[in-house]
Amino acid sequence: MSGNDVRSAADALRAALGDCQPRVAITMGSGLGGLGARIEEPVEIPYTELPGWPLPTVVGHAGKVVAGSLGGVPVLGLSGRVHMYEGAEPARTVFYVRVLGELEVPILFLSNAAGALHPTFAPGDLMLISDHINLMFRSPLRGPVHEGEDRFPDLCDLYDPELRGVVRETALQLGVRLQEGVYAAVHGPGYETPAEIRMLERFGADAVGMSTVPEVIAARGRGIRCVAVSCLTNYAAGVTSEPLDHEEVLEVAVQVQDDFERLVAGSIARFE
Ligand code: HPA
Repeated sequence: MSGNDVRSAADALRAALGDCQPRVAITMGSGLGGLGARIEEPVEIPYTELPGWPLPTVVGHAGKVVAGSLGGVPVLGLSGRVHMYEGAEPARTVFYVRVLGELEVPILFLSNAAGALHPTFAPGDLMLISDHINLMFRSPLRGPVHEGEDRFPDLCDLYDPELRGVVRETALQLGVRLQEGVYAAVHGPGYETPAEIRMLERFGADAVGMSTVPEVIAARGRGIRCVAVSCLTNYAAGVTSEPLDHEEVLEVAVQVQDDFERLVAGSIARFE
């Protein structure tokens, strides 16, 4: 993937957006794409119309950009992302983040489905990500340095403390139950073994999932401020005797969809 590919996709997206300059991009995780329906005066751009844009292959990921306004804020909703477990190179999973950088979108609000590890967290909880542990063992910044990005970026406060404060306050005001913790990113696509989950607990992880981390690292490279919320869809492997399956993940995500959407819409209206 070259800078030229990113610029071509950015040009195509800019042309479709007309004079709308998005202030917040929202990445909708598995089963959380319903937020797109809350976007007012929507302009939908299928990923297939954006040159070089990676196409998702997983159920629960639609594959389109929805531009419009949410609570009066100009937004770009990204319905569907590609993951490394689909075979995508890390740089491909963050293609869209680099496009957002080209479009000078200042804030990225990410979401995902994740398994719960923390002893008091349960399926159906939302968790604000405070930090992460990258167990994908790959960086999206591997390879030649892209224009404007650092070779060795600092990765402290990747999840913007100020934006997190706003999300916390919004949750309190809306009466949405919100946990906060560390997200461990694994490669997947198999779920973890119980032994791996015990290891992750000792590492200090509160939730586990297969996305988000490459995108947040790439966003730091572009100076995009990030905030991220996990929808805890299941107890992590071995916490209960129930086997894990993707259908369950999607079902639980749909149950918390309303709280999630109110939280995102309420928060971004307060971002400065
Ligand atoms: N593990 C990894 N990824 C996930 C999980 C999980 O338990 N639930 C949803 N995504």
